[in-house]
Amino acid sequence: MSTTTTPGVRPLVLVVMDGVGTGTGDAYDAVAAAATPQLDRLRDTGIHLEVAAHGTHVGLSSDSDMGNSEVGHNTMGAGRIIPQGAKRVDDAVRGGEIWEGAWQDAVAAATADGSALHLIGLLSDGNVHSSWDHLMLLLDHAKSDGVTRLRLHTLFDGRDVEDRTADRFAARLEEALVERTDGTDLDWQIASGGGRMVTTMDRYEANWGVVEAGWRAHVQGEARPFESVSKAITTLREETPGISDQLLEAFTVVDADGEAVGPVRDGDAVIIFNFRGDRAIELTRAFVEGDGFAGFDRGTVPDIFFAGMTLYDGDTNMPPVRLVQPPTITDTVSEVIARSGMHQLAASETQKYGHMTYFWNGNRSDPFDAETETYIDIPSDQIEFDKAPRMKAAETADYVIKALEEGGYTFLRSNLAGGDMVGHTGNFEATITAVEAVDEAVGRIATAVEAAGGCLVVTADHGNSEDMVERDKQGQPRTSQDGTPLWKTAHSTNPVPLYVVDYSGHRWEPAEGVEAPGLSNLAATLLVLLDLEVPQDYRPALIAPA
Ligand code: 3PG
Ligand code: CO
Repeated sequence: MSTTTTPGVRPLVLVVMDGVGTGTGDAYDAVAAAATPQLDRLRDTGIHLEVAAHGTHVGLSSDSDMGNSEVGHNTMGAGRIIPQGAKRVDDAVRGGEIWEGAWQDAVAAATADGSALHLIGLLSDGNVHSSWDHLMLLLDHAKSDGVTRLRLHTLFDGRDVEDRTADRFAARLEEALVERTDGTDLDWQIASGGGRMVTTMDRYEANWGVVEAGWRAHVQGEARPFESVSKAITTLREETPGISDQLLEAFTVVDADGEAVGPVRDGDAVIIFNFRGDRAIELTRAFVEGDGFAGFDRGTVPDIFFAGMTLYDGDTNMPPVRLVQPPTITDTVSEVIARSGMHQLAASETQKYGHMTYFWNGNRSDPFDAETETYIDIPSDQIEFDKAPRMKAAETADYVIKALEEGGYTFLRSNLAGGDMVGHTGNFEATITAVEAVDEAVGRIATAVEAAGGCLVVTADHGNSEDMVERDKQGQPRTSQDGTPLWKTAHSTNPVPLYVVDYSGHRWEPAEGVEAPGLSNLAATLLVLLDLEVPQDYRPALIAPA
């Protein structure tokens, strides 16, 4: 071991199995269907608890809200329940705060002669990246504030809501526009769109080409032309039967002369109404960054007023203008550990890298102490994840194992992305493979932790792969007309497992009387395992010395 190891403190390793919750064990539970000998071994050797990872347990509005990786990692790292996403913006909407400030500036720009207000965002009621209700309220206020020219740029979901519902959401939006514009001279139209995984909503700079496709469609009006959004959806579906909403090609709506109905022009106002930052930040940067922008060739950048729904990146202050201010999360667990001088490692493949760093650290990208913290970003494959479902599980384990062998780090955290990312494809067989790769990686890490005399904690940020079917209100699986299961691509509201195995000889038992154990109890649990003081406002640890 190198000399930087804090004397007397064994390494503590956290593995987050992204999207691997605890399901019913029925025929649609890819975790139960997978061979997971390593997880079974942990369950038998250490402490096994189940913790809540959805709804109010992670700061969302209601317990019908499924968990997601952003709020899951925020909550795990914060050790407290922080009001999140939709809830935070909802509060601002209810309090009226949102309609002051930046919204007024957007309206002022959009109501100047000939200008337009553009609303760009995810069109669904998934409540993970955007909210249907927020969009409707934006339309209401645009109307009452006198916005006469309004253009919508709609991204299809199929990932946080039932797949193949893009047509329904588009129709609902068309109706909402008619309701507000009928009998008026308002010129409000849907101008462009596309499936979120190929249009605009890339994250962590995994594939700027996705953002470029969105830019061409929304800003330049140069994507494949269609007379309407519904025509675009029908045609693209006919061309590729069974295609998921997330993959529908970017398009632009054109008028009878073939002219794009709503490119972004100088003087316009543009609002991204997604409240979640990870998949909104790249398009934001394309709008607000100067000549140094290197994502793709933007062509002529229109001179516009830009606002995001809220702050997407605290370190780079992006976007500089937003409708709702974000919460500040301080004293996150890695900040507390950094203050103690212990060395920390964070390793993840690109798809969840920001979750393990930025969201884990309370929406902050940089280490608290660059001297003692190392972040490792393992490039994700740039293909659909069910085509290579093992993802980078083995490579991520390699980094953790190497760091353990070399010594020097006291707290090592990593994320294995497969259960979630492959779960989002709705491909049951591939998801089983993904979970098996996660299991193998956990097993290899466990062996290395044991060899180092360390302590291993394994949990997940939310459920997904353990429930792969759409269900009716009674919880019964739904099928398509031909009787095949209606595969689910979204997360779940299931609890997630928490395993603690200490190979150092310290003995632990579950703490008694912890109310509603959830992800917010993880940070205190880690600090207790590291023998560090738990901040007073943290939710309590789930284990105690035996
Ligand atoms: C996504 O962004 O891929 C989904 O909407 C949510 O996934 P995540 O919360 O697991 O990142
Ligand atoms: Co996910």
